[in-house]
Amino acid sequence: MDDTRGRITKDGIRIYEAEDFAGMRAAGRLAAEILDEVAPLVVPGVTSEEIDRYITDRVAASGAVSATIGYKGYKHASCISVNHVVCHGIPGPKIIADGDILNVDVTVILDGWFGDTSRMYVAGSLSRKAERLIQVTHDALFKGIEAVKPGNTFGDIGHAIQSYVEAHRMSVVRDFCGHGLGRVFHAPPNVLHYGRAGTGAVLEEGMIFTIEPMVNLGRPETKVLSDDWTAVTRDKSLSAQFEHSIGVTATGCEIFTLSPAGKFHPTWG
Ligand code: MF3
Ligand code: CO
Ligand code: CO
Repeated sequence: MDDTRGRITKDGIRIYEAEDFAGMRAAGRLAAEILDEVAPLVVPGVTSEEIDRYITDRVAASGAVSATIGYKGYKHASCISVNHVVCHGIPGPKIIADGDILNVDVTVILDGWFGDTSRMYVAGSLSRKAERLIQVTHDALFKGIEAVKPGNTFGDIGHAIQSYVEAHRMSVVRDFCGHGLGRVFHAPPNVLHYGRAGTGAVLEEGMIFTIEPMVNLGRPETKVLSDDWTAVTRDKSLSAQFEHSIGVTATGCEIFTLSPAGKFHPTWG
């Protein structure tokens, strides 16, 4: 896909303009609204392909296009990652059980702009350890977001996330990262969720990217199953993830994918 807007920094990162932020705002809002609507669907007895069907229909009804259908051969409008699945879970017929935790990740293209966001949900009752994992993962994403302002570095973002997660004796997945986006799905830079303060490219107003930390209760190592998509924790420990699409402003950042209904927590339904 082409993108010729703005300029490119020496680190290869595109700098967008105010009107581009307006496009991202609309795309991000749609993706977040869809995640709001998914919440009541996540109940014991549902299947992830039923949730994906809702998302497929909702994206089409909005005049948007799914970014994931047809992406590198992927066939679905969402990734749904259950329990020890870290990311890129493929929607399927397996029945969701009481106490299962799910990440639902949706990327829409609206008027050419990509909105990419994911959240955690729980089916039925939430165990104390799953609740802790989900809360720490959510808060780690926001520690990363708080580090976003011109003059800080991408290493500052990774460091903020990693130090928060490890202080809670959980681990940050190294094998997947956030990414630049805009009028393309995955652009420079790789946004690492670990790292050292003060290292990496310097943040500038107009950059647009995702932050999407994956956090495991056990060890950080992952493996990809033979379907070539599903990434799981090697030690089978529970994993969680939250993702926002954001843009760097003069003083901090704008989150394009905040829930219009103010939802994030699985027990907030
Ligand atoms: N939405 C994912 C991300 O955060 C990418 C999913 S690609 C797919 O970057 F093909 F697996 F859907
Ligand atoms: Co993403
Ligand atoms: Co995503």
